[in-house]
Amino acid sequence: MSDIKSMKLYTHVGRIYRELGELGKTVEDPLSVDELSAFDQLHYHGTQALDVAMAMIGVDGQQRWLEIGSGLGGPARYLAAYSDAHVTALELQPDQHDVASSLTARCGLEDRIEHVCGNFLGFERAPASFDAIVSWLALYHIPERPRLLENCHRLLVPGGRFYTEDLTARGDIEDAQRKLLERDLYAITLRHINEYQQDLVNAGFEVEVCTSMSSSWAEFVRVRLAAYRADRARHLRVHGEAAVNAMTEFYSAVNRHFQSAKLGGLRLCARKPEV
Ligand SMILES: C[S@@+](CC[C@H](N)C(=O)[O-])C[C@H]1O[C@@H](n2cnc3c(N)ncnc32)[C@H](O)[C@@H]1O
Repeated sequence: MSDIKSMKLYTHVGRIYRELGELGKTVEDPLSVDELSAFDQLHYHGTQALDVAMAMIGVDGQQRWLEIGSGLGGPARYLAAYSDAHVTALELQPDQHDVASSLTARCGLEDRIEHVCGNFLGFERAPASFDAIVSWLALYHIPERPRLLENCHRLLVPGGRFYTEDLTARGDIEDAQRKLLERDLYAITLRHINEYQQDLVNAGFEVEVCTSMSSSWAEFVRVRLAAYRADRARHLRVHGEAAVNAMTEFYSAVNRHFQSAKLGGLRLCARKPEV
């Protein structure tokens, strides 16, 4: 199996500090969630996607939310800033977790977000610890899908919601492309959209919404690559050659996989039944 760092999005984690430097921020300056959101969202369509999730899940009252695979903490900070929820932000990679924790402190949100570094497959809390479990572009990294979803079901209160945007498989994928998907995107569990829904049902959930995001994301990654290439001189000045080459390679690979029509995505909202 590849290492998660074979996915070039996860190398050069200090890129975000260079972007903040461009805004004239030192490494200790206080920050706002809105200043960060152009750089700390590692999924598609930025905070617009989070607004959709909040509207679908409902954010009334002081809910307890768990985000699986929280990256640099962007979604967790936005959710905490624009609701009364307390967010547990679980992240596998120590370097991402460290950056996320420090940015959250600089936003003054430490009392609203608990950053935890670890693997969801080993994550233990009492049953019914969370009102909602959310995840953006992280679950496809994780093996053992039945165990993952059973743990989500156990951790949710009855009536609680599970919400994800995740990558999916389309059509038949040959072994050679599967290997490339694993190397380029650390794609460990790529399910077809109908299998994905069935996995949720098998784990005891009622699927409320399941929408294909394949066309929308294919266009998003195409435009993202073109924009990154067009601004290469600026990116080289800010980030240096190694980081820019890594990001160009990453954006190109993602674009190739989407345009091959073998890689897609979904938005899914499910509910744990009351009884
Ligand atoms: C593409 S990033 C998305 C980060 C964040 N959700 C966002 O949208 O900005 C996916 C994250 O999931 C994390 N991850 C992968 N496997 C995980 C696991 N088993 N447990 C916890 N986090 C995991 C990765 O380290 C990575 O930071």
